[in-house]
Amino acid sequence: MYNTRKITADLSWIGASDRRLALFENVYPIPLGVSYNSFFLKDEKTVLLDTVDSAVAEQFFANLKHVLNGRNLDYMIINHMEPDHCSQIARVIALYPEVKIVCTAKTKQMIEQFFALILPTEQYILVKDGDILPTGKHELTFVSAPMVHWPEVMVTFDKTDGILFSADAFGTFGAINGNIFADEVNFERDYLSEARRYYCNIVGKYGPQVQMLLKKASALDIKMICPLHGYIWRENIAYLVEKYSKWAAYEPEEKGVVIAYGSIYGNTENACEILAAKLAEKGVKNIKMYDVSVTHPSYIIAEAFRVSHLIFAAPTYNAGIFVNMENLLRDITAHNLQNRTVALIDNGSWAAMCAKQMKEELEKLKNIEFSEPIISLKSALSENQLKEIEDLADKIADNI
Ligand code: FEO
Repeated sequence: MYNTRKITADLSWIGASDRRLALFENVYPIPLGVSYNSFFLKDEKTVLLDTVDSAVAEQFFANLKHVLNGRNLDYMIINHMEPDHCSQIARVIALYPEVKIVCTAKTKQMIEQFFALILPTEQYILVKDGDILPTGKHELTFVSAPMVHWPEVMVTFDKTDGILFSADAFGTFGAINGNIFADEVNFERDYLSEARRYYCNIVGKYGPQVQMLLKKASALDIKMICPLHGYIWRENIAYLVEKYSKWAAYEPEEKGVVIAYGSIYGNTENACEILAAKLAEKGVKNIKMYDVSVTHPSYIIAEAFRVSHLIFAAPTYNAGIFVNMENLLRDITAHNLQNRTVALIDNGSWAAMCAKQMKEELEKLKNIEFSEPIISLKSALSENQLKEIEDLADKIADNI
């Protein structure tokens, strides 16, 4: 049975949610599920904006059939060719063989790659920045957004109603639970952390490209944002844009400390607990601790984007970095984090090597200020090293 939602008189949401998927992109845990948003514009022409993941294909086709109400499909706009959105393109074409495909030249190439689908040239309307597609009452224009999140990405702007179809930008992990607009839920309390985790992990590497898109979008009179995942924004758009501006510029949102530690027998953890307590005694309030063997790196990466000060602590392992910490740090450098103050603690019962290698990894990032000296534990924090922990806490508290 169809399950569609009216967004405006002419626009409907025809997507669906998946609460069964354990790992988005086979990497990221999604305890709240995920939605795959697809949109349908009913005008003199009928327009589909993106499809969905194969997991929710049946719901999508029931929705599409309902909104078409017996009409043919005139246009299929493809903003993004990642399979969580494009998986049903070939089936749409099979059902509506006369549909015109509106996309970038790069998208056409990817359609051929993904589906071995060579369509007649005249079936495509290849668009670039500023091109206009009139559909009757509505006039659509297109803005390329390469690397937000893949190179072929574009966003579509409905000039008539001021609606930006923003592809992956402004998306959020989390299924749609009836309410479809961000203003219908307590977004800050319930979804901001998932929006941040989505952004940082999926698009975070491409800050300059996101900044470019934000600059292009600032020239548009945007009244509503329809992303490909999560809630639709029709109120307080500036709130989300401000978050994106900070994330894209790698600026911390808040003064605060995240302590990410690896610990095999609890001794490195113990040093971190004591450091956190000392920080608290010195008045630091915004402190979070994560065991890298317990918390998925995607959560810690999002937290690293959120706060100003980061402490990494880990034992030496195989003459290198404790394996889960190594994984986290590589992921952080892959995501291009910048502009943070970092302190390091390592542990080594006979040859502490970890901190040196953690530092080498983090030195790949821009504008990281290391809080020296590095604290090096010998098996466990000793009484005579408490002063080093105290000094580090002082330094971070003063800096915050
Ligand atoms: Fe939701 Fe980059 O796809």
